[in-house]
Amino acid sequence: MDLGIRGRLALICGASRGLGFACAGRLAEAGAQVVLVAREAANLEAAAAALRARHGVQARALAADSTSDAGCAAILRECPAPDILVLSGGWPAATQRHGDADAAAVQSALQSMLLAQMALVAGVAPGMAARGFGRVVAVTSRLIKNPEWELALPSVARLGLSAYLKAASRNAAWARRNVTFNSLLPGVFASETQVAQTERLARERHTDIATVETERLSLTPAGRWGVPDEFGACCAFLCSAHAGFINGQALAIDGGAHGGLW
Ligand SMILES: NC(=O)c1ccc[n+]([C@@H]2O[C@H](COP(=O)([O-])OP(=O)(O)OC[C@H]3O[C@@H](n4cnc5c(N)ncnc54)[C@H](OP(=O)(O)O)[C@@H]3O)[C@@H](O)[C@H]2O)c1
Repeated sequence: MDLGIRGRLALICGASRGLGFACAGRLAEAGAQVVLVAREAANLEAAAAALRARHGVQARALAADSTSDAGCAAILRECPAPDILVLSGGWPAATQRHGDADAAAVQSALQSMLLAQMALVAGVAPGMAARGFGRVVAVTSRLIKNPEWELALPSVARLGLSAYLKAASRNAAWARRNVTFNSLLPGVFASETQVAQTERLARERHTDIATVETERLSLTPAGRWGVPDEFGACCAFLCSAHAGFINGQALAIDGGAHGGLW
C-alpha cells in the first residue's frame, strides 16, 4: 500500500536502534525523508546511512538528548517544520522508579518521559496545522493500562504523555487541519535493550535466559516477543495519509497481553 507520505519530513526521536529505528525504517520505506535523533552520534550516523542505502531517501542524523530542555531546543532549531513526529526512547537517569521514589526521581521521570515530549509536540503542532498535515505518534508503554508499583514513575509519566496527546487531539483547530496525535503502547519487544535486560535478569537470578524469557512472556497470549519491524509498520500506518481519522488513540501492540478491551 502506498502510505501517501512520499517526500514528507519525519522527525524520529530515539531512532538509532530498537522501536524508533524500526519506525524510521518503515517511514523511509514509504518515501519519507527522515531526521533521526539519539545521543550517541556514531551509532546514529550508521543508522541514517543504513536507511539512505536501503531506501534511497534523505536520512539525516541529529545528535541530541531529546529529554533535556537544551536538547529539545536544539532539535526544534535544526528541524523546525516536520510533517511527522515520532517520539520514542527516553528513560529517567535516576534509578528510583518505584512509587515511593524521592522528589528528584519523580522530577527526572517527568522530565525525561513527559515534559520534554510535550515541549516537542507543542513546538511542531502549530506549524503542522498551518501546513494542513501532521502526524504525531508517541511510543509510551503497556504500563499505562497496567501500572506496576516497581515501575510507578514510568507508568505515571507515560500515562501523562498519552493523556496530553489525547487532549491535543481534541483541539479542533489542529484536528480540522489534518493533524493527529496518537500513542502506541508496546508490550515486550525484542529490542537490544530488552534482550540485554533479560540477560541481566538471568545473571542476577543465577538462572538461564530461557527461564527469564518464559517468565516475561507468561502473560502474553502470543507467547513470543514482538518484532520491532511489526511495531514500525503500525507506526508508519498511523503516520500515513490514510490515518487522518484516527486521532487521540492509545493502541496497545502487545500480543494480546492487556486483558481488557479499553
Ligand atoms: N522494547 C520494549 O519492549 C518496550 C516496552 C515498553 C516500552 N518501551 C519504550 O519504548 C521506547 C523504545 O524502546 P526500545 O526498546 O526500542 O529502546 P532502545 O532499544 O533502548 O532504543 C532507545 C533509542 O532511544 C535513544 N535514546 C535513549 N535515550 C535518549 C535520549 N535521552 N535522547 C535521545 N535519544 C535517546 C537511544 O539512543 P542513544 O542511547 O544513543 O541516545 C536509542 O536510539 C522506550 O521509551 C522504551 O522505554 C519499550
